[in-house]
Amino acid sequence: MKLLVLNGPNLNLLGDREPGIYGHESLADIEAACREAATALGVDVEFAQSNHEGALVDALHAARKDCAGVVLNAGAYTHSSIALRDAISATGLPVVELHLSNTHARERFRHHSMIAAVSVGVIAGFGAAGYPLALQALVTHLGGSGKP
Ligand code: DQA
Repeated sequence: MKLLVLNGPNLNLLGDREPGIYGHESLADIEAACREAATALGVDVEFAQSNHEGALVDALHAARKDCAGVVLNAGAYTHSSIALRDAISATGLPVVELHLSNTHARERFRHHSMIAAVSVGVIAGFGAAGYPLALQALVTHLGGSGKP
């Protein structure tokens, strides 16, 4: 079973970007943690990032062919993108919405998610540790044990 971990705009700058909010881990560190978690869970993982809304839609469409589910940190597109919401509905892929920060404890415009209602669940506020948690939750949702 293969899972996609998909990251949206500005997440390529993790480590340098507002570390007080998003932590000191780089996206490469997070990818390494995801690969380690995937191995422990007995699944394959594909890891991708784009700053472009349409490229994220394309990645979801492509995942339909060979991935069983998606961990999606859509960044700011979470709060604005009907296109991403429609792509999740259109593909029918189970998606775990993920945020490093607790978006509900931040500005009001971050409280609303366009994609939460079409996601199987949301993990927010646990920093980089949220990624392995999301992979485990996705595997459990898909019928695996979610345990090593
Ligand atoms: C984020 C939260 C979003 O509100 C923000 O636009 C991001 C990162 C997070 O991981 O906490 O880019 O998705």
